[in-house]
Amino acid sequence: MNHNSTARIPDLSSKTITFIGGGNMAASLIGGLIADGYKAKRIIVSDPDGEKLAGLAARFGIITIGDNSDAVNRADVVVLAVKPQMMKQVVEGIADAAQIRRPLIVSIAAGVRERELGIWLGGGAALVRTMPNTPAMLQAGATVLHAAPGVTDDQKSLAESILRAVGLTCWVDDEEKMDAVTALSGSGPAYFFMVMEAMEEAGKSMGLAAETARLLTIQTALGAARMAIESSDGPAALRWQVTSPGGTTERALSILEEGSLRDLFGKALQGARERSVELSRMLEEK
Ligand SMILES: NC(=O)c1ccc[n+]([C@@H]2O[C@H](COP(=O)([O-])OP(=O)(O)OC[C@H]3O[C@@H](n4cnc5c(N)ncnc54)[C@H](OP(=O)(O)O)[C@@H]3O)[C@@H](O)[C@H]2O)c1
Repeated sequence: MNHNSTARIPDLSSKTITFIGGGNMAASLIGGLIADGYKAKRIIVSDPDGEKLAGLAARFGIITIGDNSDAVNRADVVVLAVKPQMMKQVVEGIADAAQIRRPLIVSIAAGVRERELGIWLGGGAALVRTMPNTPAMLQAGATVLHAAPGVTDDQKSLAESILRAVGLTCWVDDEEKMDAVTALSGSGPAYFFMVMEAMEEAGKSMGLAAETARLLTIQTALGAARMAIESSDGPAALRWQVTSPGGTTERALSILEEGSLRDLFGKALQGARERSVELSRMLEEK
């Protein structure tokens, strides 16, 4: 995995970005771009839902268009932000416009492979596939990108600078790794929510008030995540630093080890990756 933060970023401000689909992820990305100083008049959204478009225009001052091909006709970059099961129909619908305009195509759809996107677009498209996760809604996302063959460094930088508006970005060199990424960061927020639920329940069962147990759990998760992100030490070293021999943390961690927590996470992520492969195949067959 390459962290590409030093890559040369082409001047994004001169580019027009069109979002096909004006749902949650598009709104997050637009919010992030505008917070980064990107000009609202360089952002276009296309969606069949007129009310949704009016809401986005009122919130961000961006341009809205009801017809996907019209929106592609004006784009330097097209972000495909519809649900995966809609993708074939939507992409085939913009293929003619994309063949003429030749924008960079950035997909944020889970499970839709570059091969299919390329075929639906009629061949020859510059394609970057990305996998963001839900904390992107709070500009705290983790997005992994993969560039199809033929995508230039400038196009890669362009795609990266869009996704960086909603959090951390990194690249994988092999599209197949997107299934592992889906298992780790795509589904990952839910694993942490489950750990939080379990800690909250345990706190309540030891007599803490429900609200206290919840607040302590969430703040502890936030504090641990901040320590992990701000420290040059990895999580294992941080754990050792807070584990005194014979102390309370050591007792709890040994019980978690005895219960095979690590194996369980290994199996859980393998299961998620297998399911990601299955879901991609189902999308291919559609
Ligand atoms: N949400 C996440 O955390 C997350 C994480 C990783 C990846 N993603 C990916 O991001 C993509 C968007 O997800 P989302 O959560 O933003 O979904 P969403 O809120 O349902 O947004 C999709 C939007 O596309 C619109 N749409 C439907 N048909 C269309 C068409 N023919 N042309 C243009 N727009 C059309 C939908 O309109 P209607 O509502 O009227 O159908 C909706 O506004 C998905 O592919 C998903 O896999 C999301």
